Amino acid sequence: MARLAVILGLETSCDETAAAVVDRDGRVLANVVASQADLHARYGGVVPEVASRRHLELAMPVLERALEDAGIGLGDLDAVAVTEGPGLIGALLVGLATAKAVAYSHGLPLVPVDHLHGHVASLYLEPDPLEPPFLLLLASGGHTLLADVTSRAGMRRIGGTLDDAAGEAFDKGARLLGLGYPGGAALEQLARNGDPGAYDFPTPMVGRPGHDFSFSGLKTALRYAVAREPDGGAGRRAHLAASYQAAVVAALVGRTGEALRATGRRRLGVVGGVARNGVLRAALAEMCARADVELALAPPALCADNAAMIASAARFLPAIPCPDYLVRDAYASLRT
Ligand code: KG4
Ligand code: ZN
Repeated sequence: MARLAVILGLETSCDETAAAVVDRDGRVLANVVASQADLHARYGGVVPEVASRRHLELAMPVLERALEDAGIGLGDLDAVAVTEGPGLIGALLVGLATAKAVAYSHGLPLVPVDHLHGHVASLYLEPDPLEPPFLLLLASGGHTLLADVTSRAGMRRIGGTLDDAAGEAFDKGARLLGLGYPGGAALEQLARNGDPGAYDFPTPMVGRPGHDFSFSGLKTALRYAVAREPDGGAGRRAHLAASYQAAVVAALVGRTGEALRATGRRRLGVVGGVARNGVLRAALAEMCARADVELALAPPALCADNAAMIASAARFLPAIPCPDYLVRDAYASLRT
């Protein structure tokens, strides 16, 4: 497989319009992310049709900005990489159509990338690229999974969530506590003034066979706790946030520890929006230190959706020559 020298990445699977330029060695030359979070906040979640329309407006300006930041033009590119799925189908189609048009107009090859593989490839970028084999924990707003990674070209899923994703658990918990969308960071902020031991929430699935997660019962426990004392005031909300966050973190860390023991892996990679959470980062560091496991946390700027991770993944995947990719279609659901 010919190694591509300069890759333009595009990512539009949810509510971030992102473009990035990455070179073959994994150096990020530009990384532009335009978040639509404010646009969707008033609805309490992402509205797919609104997201697609906004991607349409932002795709070209964001792409041009990335090229400008990298100090290059379209003629300097060797390939275009784009998220093909999973995600919101309309949103994905805007990115895919944009990528096809840009690649085709310059006779460039196209590399379709799976969004989850993209998250993993955030660990392969400079300055500190992670070498497989390792166990992967991906915790984002749309997905939560554990995978065994033996090659940079993919991963083998060993467990996932049976219901809500970890980020969804944070977002729904935040909503119950009267915080805005997306609520993960706001919940972490509120929890700083609370006691994580004030409420005894369950840590779902820990100790059970297999490597799956479940967060919907925890969310229901929070709903009941909130309903029990509706006038508890700000102090109680902080205690609830801290205790709820502690339970989500304990579930993630507990299940990951079990998967490390089951697979015998000595390295752990952690990616996705929830990996920005400071309490989770600290708990994973403590668990890995105790188990003598090397820990690689995605840098906070590359945890949430971005296109540098998509261009990074493309370095290890086959490029489709021009114009064979014009028939490619996006996919909404999980393939990993
Ligand atoms: O990876 P990402 O940007 O999008 C998906 O691919 O889903 O992840 C977004 C998720 C949201 O659910 C958001 O609430 C969560 O990551 N998140 C956090 C924090 N920052 C973002 N969750 C907990 N603590 C945070 N500090
Ligand atoms: Zn994502």
